[in-house]
Amino acid sequence: MVPFRPLNIGPPSICGSYRIRYERKCKMEVQQILALVFRWIHIIPSMILVGGTIFLRCSLVPAANEVGGSDEVREAIRRRWAKLVMLSVLLLLVSGVYNFHLKAVNYKMDGTYLALIAIKVLLALAVFYLVAVVSGRSSMARRFREKEIFWLNVLCLAMIGIVCIAGYVKVFPIPEKVEPVEQARLVVDSYEDATQ
Ligand code: HEM
Repeated sequence: MVPFRPLNIGPPSICGSYRIRYERKCKMEVQQILALVFRWIHIIPSMILVGGTIFLRCSLVPAANEVGGSDEVREAIRRRWAKLVMLSVLLLLVSGVYNFHLKAVNYKMDGTYLALIAIKVLLALAVFYLVAVVSGRSSMARRFREKEIFWLNVLCLAMIGIVCIAGYVKVFPIPEKVEPVEQARLVVDSYEDATQ
C-alpha cells in the first residue's frame, strides 16, 4: 500500500477525514483484488473438474471400452487425473468458503439464496466424495469403476446442477449491505439532488 502523504490542505479535521477516505479506498481495493483472485481460484478448478469429468464420460471411457484400452493406459490416466481432482477439490473448498464469507460480510443473504447455496455445497460435497472414489485406487474405487459410465453420468448431472445454481445466484444477485455512513451520504445526496 502506497504510504499516505498528508496533503496539508487545511485544518486537521479535513486532513483526518481525507486520511480515513484514503485508507477506506485502499482497503476496498485490496478486498476487490482478493475477491477477483478467489473468483479465479473458484472458476478455474470448477472448469477442470466439470470439463474433465464430461471428457471422461463422453469420450475417454467409451473409447477405452470400445477398443479395450489396456489396464496400464487406464492406470496411467487415472493416476494423473486423481492428482488434478485432489488439487481442484482443495481449491474449490478454500475459494468456496472465502466466496461465502465475502457474500456474508457484504450482502444481505435471504432465505432463497442461503437455500440455493446450501444445495450447491451439499451437491459439491457429494461430487467431491464420488469423484475422489471414482479416480481412487482402493478396492472400493475398483468396485465403483465396474459401473463407471453410471457414476460418471451421476457426476456430470450433479456438476451441471451446481454450475446452474451458481449461474442463477449470479444473475439474481442479493442486495448489498449499505454502511450507515454510506446510507447517510446517499440520503444527503438525494436530498441535494431534489433541492437543486
Ligand atoms: C464441484 C464443485 C463446485 C463447482 C463446479 C462450483 C462452481 C461455481 C461457479 C461456476 C460459480 C460462479 C463463479 C462466478 O461467476 O463468480 C460459483 C460460485 C460460488 N461458489 Fe461454487 N462451485 C463448487 C463448489 C463450491 C463449494 C464447495 C462452495 C462452498 C464451500 C462453493 C461456494 C460458492 C459461492 C459462495 C459462490 C458465489 C455465489 C455468488 O456469487 O453469490 N462452491 N461456484
